Amino acid sequence: MTSSSSASNAPRFSRITGTGSMLPPRRVTNAELAAELAGRGVETSDDWIVARTGIHARHFAAPDVNSSDLAVQAARHALEAAGRHADEIDLIIVATSTPDMVFPSTACIVQQKLGVQGCAAFDLQAVCSGFVYALTVADSMIRSGAASKALVIGAEVFSRILDFNDRGTCVLFGDGAGAVVVEASDQPGILASDLHADGRHVDILCVPGHVSGGQVQGSALLKMDGQAVFKLAVGVLEAAARAVLAKAGRQDADIDWLIPHQANIRIMEGTARKLKLPLEKLIATVGEHGNTSAASIPLALDHAIRSGRIQRGDTLMLEGVGGGFTWGAVLVDL
Ligand code: ACO
Repeated sequence: MTSSSSASNAPRFSRITGTGSMLPPRRVTNAELAAELAGRGVETSDDWIVARTGIHARHFAAPDVNSSDLAVQAARHALEAAGRHADEIDLIIVATSTPDMVFPSTACIVQQKLGVQGCAAFDLQAVCSGFVYALTVADSMIRSGAASKALVIGAEVFSRILDFNDRGTCVLFGDGAGAVVVEASDQPGILASDLHADGRHVDILCVPGHVSGGQVQGSALLKMDGQAVFKLAVGVLEAAARAVLAKAGRQDADIDWLIPHQANIRIMEGTARKLKLPLEKLIATVGEHGNTSAASIPLALDHAIRSGRIQRGDTLMLEGVGGGFTWGAVLVDL
C-alpha cells in the first residue's frame, strides 16, 4: 500500500468550526402580542404564555424578509467565526419549513446571495428536527468524501404560517436563523447521530395546504394538537439521547450541555431531568426566541458560544423533535 493510499484510508470525521445566527430586529413581547390579539377578539396573557411555555418574547421578520435573508446573515457570521470564505464551501444545506419559494430551494437562493456558485445546495424538510437531520446528512457526506466544508443552516419565518386567530399556536413561534460550518477533520467532532420519523402522526402538527392549479388549496396555516405533541416529545427525546450516547460509548455525565429544540421549557426541563442533568447544563433560549423550528438549535448554540458559556472541547447533546412526526439527536465534541 502506498503512503498516499494509506493517507486516503485514514479515518475521516467532521467538526463544527464556526457558528452564526440572525434574529430579525422586531422583538414582540407577550404583552404586545396579547394586545394585538385582543384587537381580533383573541384572549391571551403574558402569565398564561410564560407559565405554559417559558416564552417571554419572539422576533418577527418584516414582510419583505424571507428565510434566505436570515439564513445568509447567519451563514456570514458562521463563516467569519470559522475563518472561511463562502467560495471555500462545497455543500450548503438549509433546513426549513418556510422556504422562500416552492422551488428552487432556499439553499440555492442562499448560495446566490453569498455570491458563490458550483457547490451542492439543497433544502431539507424535517420541520423542527430539520437541523439535526441536516447536520447528520452533512456529517455523512463529509465522512464519505462527498464534501469537505459544509454550511448547515436552519432558517424560518414561521410568522408567515401562523393563524393569529388560534391562541393555542400563534403565541408559540418566532422567526430566525442559525448556521454552522462543518469541516472534514482527522479528529472526531460529530460523534454519533440517531434520527427517526413516525408518519402515523402527520396530522398532529401540520400545514395541510398544497399548491394546485396555481393556488394554495386548503389551509396554509399551522395546525397543532399541542397535548399530543407534548406527550410524544418527552419520551422520544430521552430515547434518542440514550441512543446516541450508546453509539458514541459515552455516559449521561459526559454531556456538558444539552441543547434541545426550543419549543417549550417544560419539555426541555423534563428531558434534562430524565438524563439526570442539572438544569444549569440546559441551554434555553426559548424565553427570548420562541419556537423558531429548524433554526432553534443553531440559534441557541451560537448564542451560548458567543456568550462564553459553551467552550471549544465541550460535549454537546443536540436534540430535535417536530412535525412528521420526526425526532433525533446528535452528540458533538466541539
Ligand atoms: N392563552 C390563554 N389560554 C390559552 C392559550 C393562550 N395562548 N392557548 C390555549 N389556551 C387555553 C385553552 O383554550 C384551554 O382552555 P380550556 O381549558 O378553557 O379549554 C386551556 O388554555 C388549556 O389548553 P391546553 O391546550 O390543554 O394547554 P396545554 O397545557 O396543553 O399547553 C401548549 C398548550 C403550550 C401548546 C402545550 O401543549 C405544548 O407546549 N405542546 C407542545 C408543543 C410543541 O412542543 N411543539 C413542538 C413542535 S413544533 C414543530 O415541529 C413545528
